[in-house]
Amino acid sequence: MTVADDAPAAAPDFVVVANRLPVDLRTDRRGRPRVRRAPGGLVTALEPVLRGGSGAWVGWPGGVDTAPAPFVDDRLALHPVALSAQEVEEYYEGFANATLWPLFHDLIVTPRYDRRWWHGYRAVNRRFAEETAAVAADGATVWVQDYQLLLVPRMLRELRPDLTIGFFLHIPFPPTELFLQLPWRREIVEGMLGADLIGFQLAGGADNFLALTRRLLGHRTSRAAVRADRPGTVQVDARTACVGAFPISIDTAAVDRSARSAANRRRAAQLRADLGRPGTLLLGVDRLDYTKGIDLRLHALEELIAEDRIDPSRVSLLQLATPSREQVAAYEHQRQVIEQQVSRLNGRYSTLAHPLVHYIHRPVDRQTLTAMFTAADVMLVTPLRDGMNLVAKEYVACRTDLDGALVLSEFAGAAAELTQAYQVNPHDLESIKDAIEAAMTVDAHEARRRMSALRRTVAGADVHRWARSFLGALHAPPAAD
Ligand code: ADP
Ligand code: G6P
Repeated sequence: MTVADDAPAAAPDFVVVANRLPVDLRTDRRGRPRVRRAPGGLVTALEPVLRGGSGAWVGWPGGVDTAPAPFVDDRLALHPVALSAQEVEEYYEGFANATLWPLFHDLIVTPRYDRRWWHGYRAVNRRFAEETAAVAADGATVWVQDYQLLLVPRMLRELRPDLTIGFFLHIPFPPTELFLQLPWRREIVEGMLGADLIGFQLAGGADNFLALTRRLLGHRTSRAAVRADRPGTVQVDARTACVGAFPISIDTAAVDRSARSAANRRRAAQLRADLGRPGTLLLGVDRLDYTKGIDLRLHALEELIAEDRIDPSRVSLLQLATPSREQVAAYEHQRQVIEQQVSRLNGRYSTLAHPLVHYIHRPVDRQTLTAMFTAADVMLVTPLRDGMNLVAKEYVACRTDLDGALVLSEFAGAAAELTQAYQVNPHDLESIKDAIEAAMTVDAHEARRRMSALRRTVAGADVHRWARSFLGALHAPPAAD
């Protein structure tokens, strides 16, 4: 990726605001600039949408204290927001990732409610709102993203009532009884209600939010449950805010195209050869996050081998675990758990010629990732909870020969659409084991039938359609109840 040093020209009439910019701009140990793609599904999804047109993106460039002046990268104006070390600790690692993230993922770990973190979160949200207010053109559309910026819609509306404001939550929205734990629950919900349209991945999240606004704030809401084609509404004083479900996706055609290329096929074949041509190649691709269930799939593999249901000399597992939020204690703990499991499995079952688990704890480039998706026989996606999970869709989009099998947790948002996957309850180890075994032994005809159906789904609902449907609903008048 090249960074042009020209400054943005006119004020943009379409602005995305997300905690992260699509690029991570830090300096390395020797003080040289380092430009990397930012991690995670939010950037994967939004980047192709924004790169296709002209717009601006307001976000944190990673790192501490420094942020370059606004610049244009490949027609997209980037407006970096700097965070101090204290802000990173209180707002990002603290309130966003040790309070909201576990609370919204059904308390897989216990959220910490810390007043200091809350004050940091509020202050940084205000800064994002102010920077956006200074950037957007008169009457612009602003699209605020995700749980790090829940207060921004209302703050922005107060600063700039002329804007049309959308908000999309990429992660699950919890049931009322969980959300009500949050000491600052009113301010958070009022913050989100500053948007004209509040979007969730699934209808269940949207319904949870409507129920919460009734119970917590006594707002009048449309009675109908939210459906994909029919947003609900909340009456906020004289204003009507819409609430809808918009399942996010990937740039399917682009992924399909790069998977079909001769270069990718060569890379995938080479990868299998490098791995010693295993009988079955299992693959996991995740940020190293306790929500992803990496530990569960390793445990399942260990038991399947111990029960002689898998021959360790014929199988390899390639597990990518991108470093993520490493200063947060629960992430550090999860890393230790996973790395112990990997060493135990390899210590017990690897041979010099054939390691059982290949564990890669760093990001890889897109080409390598596409080759891995193309080479793998079985993809393991086993989160305890996940807003959508784009990895599942990327795997399907790479299976241009209609082979391969997807093991998918019922608790990933993607399970609602990818019904032909081998679905598992990640809380039930036997269910994971049975699904891995079934996916490894499926006959070619059945595998093809399932993969064809999965591919139709992923082809029919790509990220461009997702963006059009959200932005279309944002500019449509609210439907009468
Ligand atoms: P999340 O947003 O929670 O990280 P998703 O599955 O929705 O989960 O999105 C993850 C994105 O990050 C996908 O586009 C995936 O391909 C990418 N990704 C995950 N691990 C790596 C890695 N090690 N190297 C490069 N990209 C990765
Ligand atoms: C998830 C979140 C995104 C976040 C990404 C990467 O996809 O929904 O908002 O950007 O994870 O996490 P990070 O903390 O590195 O931004």
